[in-house]
Amino acid sequence: MSKELIRLSNCSMAFDGEVVLNNINLYFNDKEFLTLLGPSGCGKTTTLRIIGGFLKPTSGDIFFDGVRINDVPPHKRMVNTIFQKYALFTHLNVFENIAFGLRLQRPGGKKLSQAEINSRVMEMLEVVSLKGFEKRDVTILSGGQQQRVAIARALVNHPKVLLLDEPLGALDMRLRKDMQNELKRIQQATGITFIYVTHDQEEALAMSDTIVVMESGVIQQIGTPEDIYNEPKNAFVADFIGESNIVDGIMRSDGVVEIFGRKFKCLDSGFDPMEQVDVVIRPEDIDIVDEGQGALTGTVISITFRGVLFDIIVDFRGFKWLIQTTDLSPVGSKIGIKIDPDGIHIMKKGPFSGLYGDYSSYSAEYDEIGDAKHEYEPTHSDDAFE
Ligand SMILES: Nc1ncnc2c1ncn2[C@@H]1O[C@H](COP(=O)(O)OP(=O)(O)OP(=O)(O)O)[C@@H](O)[C@H]1O
Ligand SMILES: [Mg+2]
Repeated sequence: MSKELIRLSNCSMAFDGEVVLNNINLYFNDKEFLTLLGPSGCGKTTTLRIIGGFLKPTSGDIFFDGVRINDVPPHKRMVNTIFQKYALFTHLNVFENIAFGLRLQRPGGKKLSQAEINSRVMEMLEVVSLKGFEKRDVTILSGGQQQRVAIARALVNHPKVLLLDEPLGALDMRLRKDMQNELKRIQQATGITFIYVTHDQEEALAMSDTIVVMESGVIQQIGTPEDIYNEPKNAFVADFIGESNIVDGIMRSDGVVEIFGRKFKCLDSGFDPMEQVDVVIRPEDIDIVDEGQGALTGTVISITFRGVLFDIIVDFRGFKWLIQTTDLSPVGSKIGIKIDPDGIHIMKKGPFSGLYGDYSSYSAEYDEIGDAKHEYEPTHSDDAFE
């Protein structure tokens, strides 16, 4: 998984003077499952279309195996695409849908033999777990089965790279989850490089070797799912990937950050003394303790049951935090919180600071109690870890 296959070098794209991709630098390794993740309109499909050869970048270069391919047309790139609307041929059965591309091939000027076509189609039916479905009419298949035919149709030509643009968008939640596992299995079984587009962060975390987080045509972060979740580079990434409380902090020294006037131990270092920072605290990294026992005291203002956990919104001096917990604390109760050093992640201030990470608008209940008074906790010590 280490050999570089595709590289976008300083790629920009503008439509009618409007920049939609701004100097993208990105490489894809052979056999990698890489996901472009970002909100609607951030440029994911545009990036995919540049890789597929359907669009030429306004500036910049694209390389395949080290060779510049800006001028190579789509059908000559070893790339296949599955679009969100994967339009199967409704007049053809499952077998013929998959065989379609093979029947057009003329290696050495000759058609593929029927035996060769049979064996390639059967191999693909096996890969997508649709053996026995070859004679079925595609219109009577379930959404997930149709999706698998579309995948088989794209894979049967043995592309080096498969581009998938929100391929599960049309499926319901349950089927989506099944197909996520299925796609991951197919990718691993075939060793084909997958470049996957989604705006669903859970999907990206579950499937990818590498995630590229994009916003407004700019790459915000590239990393493994664990990197992106645990070490987000800025408030946009922290907010977009999972749930995050993002509060203002001041670095007092290496390993000590001040939040709401209290000092917390953290694992981060390398910041200037007294540098203003953004502090990310994931909702699952906050422990609830009795009022007065914790580093900060807040008031529970809403509770939502999520199956295994409760999402509770807690007001700390006007800032609303999301905490995920198995302990039920009733609305209106005062609670203390504890945060271990590894539950705190420090980020440099940047253009996204202050835009994300407060849960004021998270629940309707907030509106009813939005005017509630905030009480300040005692200030006998400002060291939360003493
Ligand atoms: N052919 C085009 N002409 C003009 N503008 C375009 C064209 N294609 C895309 N855009 C614009 O480029 C921006 C990025 O579009 P793109 O389709 O890449 O977004 P996306 O990340 O795939 O979003 P979504 O998640 O909604 O599919 C958008 O503002 C879009 O309106
Ligand atoms: Mg798109």
